[in-house]
Amino acid sequence: RKTVTIPALMAMRAAGEKIAMLTCYDASFAALMDHCGVDVLLVGDSLGNVSQGQSSTLPVTIDDMAYHTASVARGNKSAFLVTDMPFATYGTKEAAFQNAAKLMQAGAHMVKIEGGAWLAETVHFLVERGIPVFAHIGLTPQSVHILGGNRVQGKTAEGAEKLKADALALQAAGASMLLLEAIPAALGKEVTELMSIPTIGIGAGPDCSGQVLVMHDMLDVFPGKKARFVKNFMQGQDSIGGAFRAYISAVKDKSFPAPEHCF
Ligand code: KIV
Ligand code: NA
Repeated sequence: RKTVTIPALMAMRAAGEKIAMLTCYDASFAALMDHCGVDVLLVGDSLGNVSQGQSSTLPVTIDDMAYHTASVARGNKSAFLVTDMPFATYGTKEAAFQNAAKLMQAGAHMVKIEGGAWLAETVHFLVERGIPVFAHIGLTPQSVHILGGNRVQGKTAEGAEKLKADALALQAAGASMLLLEAIPAALGKEVTELMSIPTIGIGAGPDCSGQVLVMHDMLDVFPGKKARFVKNFMQGQDSIGGAFRAYISAVKDKSFPAPEHCF
């Protein structure tokens, strides 16, 4: 298939074709996801939870992320590859640039950072220097101790207004994509309609430009408690490739997420 690029993702959004994204942490799964047609692979700092057995993403380091990015990049041929910048690696724009460069040199095509309008200057600084940025708002797990747990965000009128203002500020600063995690489905739709860049949802309703899930959740491998937005795509399949294809189909035909996966 054709290599997935930022213009290709913009064209999918414009055409109303949903973008199917999954997290990925190693070369073999990258090769299989790429072969099955996953559009975007995310080397998520969720690897702290699912791979390292940590209870949050906070212990994950830039070297951990670079190591997994290099592994995924070796297995992948044509999917678009995004890597999370981990906790405390983008506190200043200069630090963000130094750390993002490590991920780009390991094979990432874009970096993802968690936070709102306060990151606008950092987004601009990275984009000017050749590093595309995916901005992550709503439930931002690196701020778990500020949020007081993994809670649904944007439920109050004030929270929803702040989320929309953050989305617009990040887009104006040059972000190429916007991740919406754990917000009411109606707000996911509203933000998506406000934006001219693709939105990718996880627990943000069916109207985002695309969807993402953690691989270990959708394969029903992760032993912990499942979030409401998780669906087990191994059900009814006899191979992992079958589960990836079922996920892609369900995202593209808009049957996932269903109302029971939404807030
Ligand atoms: O780290 C991760 O897996 C993520 C997704 C849940 C969006 O950031
Ligand atoms: Na993450």
